[in-house]
Amino acid sequence: MTGKLYPVGDAASDARITRADYLRRYAEAATDPEAYWMREGLCVDWIRPYTRAKDVSFHEVDFRIRWFPDGELNLSANCLDRHLAERGDQVAIIWEGDEQGDERRISYRELHAEVCRFANVLKAQGVRRSDRVTIYLPMIIEAAVAMLACARVGAIHSVVFGGFSPDALAGRIQGCGSKVVVTADQGCRGGKRIPLKANVDEALARCPEVERVVVVRRTGADVPMTPGRDLWYDRLVADASPECPSEPMGAEDPLFILYTSGSTGKPKGVLHTTGGYAVWTTSTFRDVFDYRDGELFWCTADVGWVTGHSYVVYGPLANGATTVMFDGVPSYPDHGRLWETVDRLGVNTLYTAPTAIRALMREGDEWVTRHSRRSLRLLGSVGEPINPEAWDWYHRIVGDGRCPIVDTWWQTETGGILISPLPGATDLKPGSACLPLPGVRPVIVDADGDELDGPAEGNLCIADSWPGQMRNVWGDDQRFFQTYFTTYPGKYFTGDGCRRDADGYYWITGRVDDVINVSGHRMGTAEVESALVAHRQVSEAAVVGMPHDVKGQGIYAFVTLNAGEVATERLRDELRQWVRREIGPVATPDALQFTPALPKTRSGKIMRRILRKIAEGETSGLGDTSTLADPAVVAQLVADRGSA
Ligand code: PRX
Repeated sequence: MTGKLYPVGDAASDARITRADYLRRYAEAATDPEAYWMREGLCVDWIRPYTRAKDVSFHEVDFRIRWFPDGELNLSANCLDRHLAERGDQVAIIWEGDEQGDERRISYRELHAEVCRFANVLKAQGVRRSDRVTIYLPMIIEAAVAMLACARVGAIHSVVFGGFSPDALAGRIQGCGSKVVVTADQGCRGGKRIPLKANVDEALARCPEVERVVVVRRTGADVPMTPGRDLWYDRLVADASPECPSEPMGAEDPLFILYTSGSTGKPKGVLHTTGGYAVWTTSTFRDVFDYRDGELFWCTADVGWVTGHSYVVYGPLANGATTVMFDGVPSYPDHGRLWETVDRLGVNTLYTAPTAIRALMREGDEWVTRHSRRSLRLLGSVGEPINPEAWDWYHRIVGDGRCPIVDTWWQTETGGILISPLPGATDLKPGSACLPLPGVRPVIVDADGDELDGPAEGNLCIADSWPGQMRNVWGDDQRFFQTYFTTYPGKYFTGDGCRRDADGYYWITGRVDDVINVSGHRMGTAEVESALVAHRQVSEAAVVGMPHDVKGQGIYAFVTLNAGEVATERLRDELRQWVRREIGPVATPDALQFTPALPKTRSGKIMRRILRKIAEGETSGLGDTSTLADPAVVAQLVADRGSA
């Protein structure tokens, strides 16, 4: 199957990159990467120019990933200062609140002043180059301000999604040793309040090293402030100077840490550095979204995820774009929210996740078609495979058949988009992320690590580095190399399965490891399992993904109880709520099946393959179960399936 083809057609007429440009650039980047990147690196401003671009080896003996290594720059200056002369009065960020029409706009000049003020606040609180600052905020302008202020003074930010629990927050604060936390009194989502400050207070009971908590007033709720530790953001910035020179940062100096789930153990702190990340987000934003001056770009992701880092904040602002920060949800106050907002603000590009598209598609076309959506020029999709039905609805109903869709494949680890159509250059196939960007070399390998040519299906690796690649796992060099470069030596392994068709198009089939992609959010099975076994009545747990109509994948938990405990509906609910509290709402199991035992090999390894099949409802073809210690367990699991 190669899928239906949507030719570039009219979209090409005024696109900055045509098919011929794409092919030429791809070939240049492949044949002479050094020359290509020496030139491309100039998309950002350097304080001290680099004299070489690429210094990389994926092999253990001389493993290193360095880009533009002797250059110096500051990403905050690239997002702010460099725009002041030409577009100081242009709106940089439009904030759209949870309540429809609750809006705030900030120009580049105002944003620059605010970032400088907060950078001075950070310095006054003792934050220095390479110190870590944890940011636990809703989608408000201050979140971008805090990130940019860190980048300005050379501090490393670690943004934690506001939907994570106090426990998850504490783990991430301890993981990177932040001494400062920036939060808000409360967040608002779909008309509900999120007790962010209370969560921080609870988390900090376990993080005695934290010296300062800066609290933004979002709702004005009365929250307890710990004297000597907690300070109000508005008071601090009011007294701070609006001038703050930006620190010259080495290209390989750390920019941020972002925790993401892996297949084993605790979430890992993905580390990105300054120069390569700046070049990658700046150039991919410009090319993939074919951004034109004066346009309005709306990425609906939260800054707590990598999409929010790269395409709400850094990519758009480095390009001098106007970016929308949305503090609400697509279903509030009703299912027309996105389209009402698109019309009211005049959004030109909308970049969202398949899970949102599927959820809205279910509500019927009327919610969409009652709004004009005439301002839309381009649609984007990210975070999980988009099924062709959802793609078609997005294209036909939302985009009235006029807007190309860029289905962008990438990961927290990749910093920015790696595989995606370019709107004026690539014929589209619904459900395919299409073709690699210039400089990206995807390869498909079989289980033995052999590279497959032509049309093929297997595991997706990237054969060579690109500037936006992560540089390390915070505090664990071994884990970085071990996780990504040992499965298929000499290559970066993505953890994704993939098919390449006869036209060379890539079709991502989903994770091949123990990571579940719930509504485009990564969840490690190990994390959910350890939350479950922390419950006093639980003996063992195994968690796998299951197909879910809206979320893409749901979480299916198999649980065995301690001797003497009784499986009841109440306990099932309690355990689901328990996980929700331990990690956050994204981790809540969709199904939870009690079982007297888990299927294990004679050496005690849980056979997840069997559990996955049962969760998928494919109970007939369970394959070879002869290696199980007790094959009868499987029959029991199948018989009990309906109870989950
Ligand atoms: O499985 C792939 C899926 O999301 C994973 C990365 O998740 P995360 O690091 O949280 O970053 C999400 C936002 C970039 C990938 O390993 N994924 C992401 N984009 C796509 C996708 N799967 C299919 N198609 C995509 N466009």
